[in-house]
Amino acid sequence: MPVKNAMTAEFLRSAFGGESMAHMRYLVWAETAEKEGKLNVARLFRAVSQAEWVHAKGHFRVLGGDIADMAVTAGAVFGLRSTAENLEGAAMGEDHEVDQMYPAYIAVAEAQGEKEAVRTFSFALAAEKQHAELFRKARAAVLEGRDIELEGIYVCPLCGHTVLDGAPDKCPVCGMGKDRYERF
Ligand SMILES: [Fe+2]
Ligand SMILES: [Fe+2]
Repeated sequence: MPVKNAMTAEFLRSAFGGESMAHMRYLVWAETAEKEGKLNVARLFRAVSQAEWVHAKGHFRVLGGDIADMAVTAGAVFGLRSTAENLEGAAMGEDHEVDQMYPAYIAVAEAQGEKEAVRTFSFALAAEKQHAELFRKARAAVLEGRDIELEGIYVCPLCGHTVLDGAPDKCPVCGMGKDRYERF
């Protein structure tokens, strides 16, 4: 059932905008990482970009198809810097979602009885915590002049749960089966 309350709808549109930008930003930064020879960092950016696409799609689906004007204010990095700086910017963006944005959006959606909005915001919140940690780990490696070491990065297609080195049997956030995870 589509969202009924104006404030939850506003937050869904805002989150859709923010996730859409993060999706695109990480794809551009993946290219930069490739040019710097950090191929695993590039894979990480592509995997997380996919998770943000999953979040954007989830938020979009909960909106009921209303036509609305929406200016998205994004306190985020615009443009290219070095991969170490891009990773720092990425971690800061994820922290903002984890500390500020999603807890507030979830609280409002809960107060307004918007169960589907609570679900899609909660899926994103869980994944963004992982993203912040993964970007910090990658940044530490790049600052030491290394690429990150990883076998594969796995992204849940329903909630964007993002893990290194093998998907869990069941997604701990949404229950999706292991074979559905996308590998990067
Ligand atoms: Fe994220
Ligand atoms: Fe999941």
